[in-house]
Amino acid sequence: MQTSLILIKPDGVQRRLTGRILSRFEEKGLQIVGARFMKIPLELAETHYEAHKERPFYPGLVQYMTSSPVLALALRGKSSIAVIRKMLGATFGSQADPGTIRGDFAISDGYNLVHASDSPEAAEKELGLFFPEGTVDYGMADTPWVYDVESDLG
Ligand code: RTP
Ligand code: MG
Repeated sequence: MQTSLILIKPDGVQRRLTGRILSRFEEKGLQIVGARFMKIPLELAETHYEAHKERPFYPGLVQYMTSSPVLALALRGKSSIAVIRKMLGATFGSQADPGTIRGDFAISDGYNLVHASDSPEAAEKELGLFFPEGTVDYGMADTPWVYDVESDLG
């Protein structure tokens, strides 16, 4: 089981797509273990995207991410980090495949609706930034139907 940090970005909230995007993750079988609706402080946005500090798009990216609230989510599931990245699609909405969230709802390159951790290391760091108090651990009644318990969960 892995936990990933998702951000429904300011354009996702402003375009009233929050519920539809969250539904796709729920329908996939992922479990919500954290949710926080928030305006990202400047320093947090800078730290979250610090890997891109030297890139030309960084100042605009930080401005975009702090311009309006986001919904931060911690989502748990089998191989969830890679699964969710696939569900997002390519970075640029204009290039993302149909059937992906960005491919279905975004045509902009920068305004691409949703962020997701891209590795276990990134997830650990990002979950610490957005959910410093930790996640909410609980069981799901449908686990035996979402998973083949014997082979998926050992
Ligand atoms: P994210 O981190 O938000 O999940 O997106 P990603 O991994 O698919 O893409 P990444 O390369 O990490 O870029 C972070 C975000 O910066 C904006 N961006 N704009 N205009 C541009 O050339 C450009 N390149 C990147 C996007 O909002 C992208 O998601
Ligand atoms: Mg990224």
